[in-house]
Amino acid sequence: MSEVRLTGVSKRYDAVSRPALESLDLTIPNGELAVLVGPSGCGKSTTLRIVAGLEEASTGKVFIGDTNVTNIPPANRDIAMVFQSYALYPHMSVFDNLAFALRIQKCDEKEIRERVQQVARSLSIDDYLERKPKALSGGQRQRVAIGRAVVRNPKVFLFDEPLSNLDAKLRGEMRKEIARIHNSSDHTTSLYVTHDQIEAMTLADRIVVLKDGLVQQVGSPIEIYDNPENRFVAGFFGTPAMNFLTADAIQKNDTLHASGEGFSLPLGKEVGACDRVTVGIRPESISLHGESDAPTMKASVHLREVLGAEVLLHVDSPAGELTVRTEAHAEAREGDNLTLYLPTDKLHIFDAASENRI
Ligand SMILES: Nc1ncnc2c1ncn2[C@@H]1O[C@H](COP(=O)(O)OP(=O)(O)O)[C@@H](O)[C@H]1O
Ligand SMILES: [Mg+2]
Repeated sequence: MSEVRLTGVSKRYDAVSRPALESLDLTIPNGELAVLVGPSGCGKSTTLRIVAGLEEASTGKVFIGDTNVTNIPPANRDIAMVFQSYALYPHMSVFDNLAFALRIQKCDEKEIRERVQQVARSLSIDDYLERKPKALSGGQRQRVAIGRAVVRNPKVFLFDEPLSNLDAKLRGEMRKEIARIHNSSDHTTSLYVTHDQIEAMTLADRIVVLKDGLVQQVGSPIEIYDNPENRFVAGFFGTPAMNFLTADAIQKNDTLHASGEGFSLPLGKEVGACDRVTVGIRPESISLHGESDAPTMKASVHLREVLGAEVLLHVDSPAGELTVRTEAHAEAREGDNLTLYLPTDKLHIFDAASENRI
């Protein structure tokens, strides 16, 4: 078990283009599972590979526990990595794949057998130990890949999109499996990379949001969902995505309002020098009923999507298209005119220019 710490880590692959990673400072406390999330190309794998030692940072340092590992080769960092591609040895049986790293460490065969069998049992792959990887399903292969990391009992687990090749149902199951492995007895410090916001929300103790090689926000899943620090983070988390309205910030009856086509929303906060704001409201925060003095907006339904437990209403408003998530028995149908209630305490206000939260 060990804290993982990166200080001022940057990576340039070539002198010309934008850095893949810019002055990243990040501490993952001992035993935590941190998820690095962001769109494709934002620098997630680069970060992971730098922690693993497979890639050299252009600047900055990496610590595992108290040790500066920046110049230590990957094999001596006591980490185990799980890849999207599984990367199993095709000519070896499942047993030999699981035993491989322990044999390199010159563990004794009896101990190897015990550890492999224990890990195989815990991942429900103990019936396949004699098979070659090609005789396994994708989900079973990924279990072997995870087992191969777990069996080594490393200081740090690194996961690079390990579930991306699996179908939705298996992904859900393996997500629970990874959470269970992390939570089981020794809480190994883990860094998990994904582009999937749901994986990030469900697995993380701490989420690190990356965009274009720059950290956008670090926080618990709930902090990130409730208080996104900028418009990018606000729009990245949540299904369906947050609605955004562009508005002028204007003074009305001693109160600052976000005013736009068809709406005027009291802001209840200072916006300083900013005169254009972006108002964010999540689909589940818009309501079809409300107090008589609550701010409202007129809209008409152009599409009703039944999800089972809930209904999504795609509506046209003077401010543009919005999505409303409401209970399954809501009466609204295509063509209906509605009054939408926009509770002031559910609004997220961003400076329209900088896109930062106000
Ligand atoms: N070996 C490489 N040579 C040049 N550019 C690279 C190399 N690896 C990654 N990049 C670039 O660095 C950026 C970050 O890549 P990566 O960390 O793989 O992103 P992610 O894992 O978030 O999708 C991308 O713009 C990518 O094209
Ligand atoms: Mg990647």
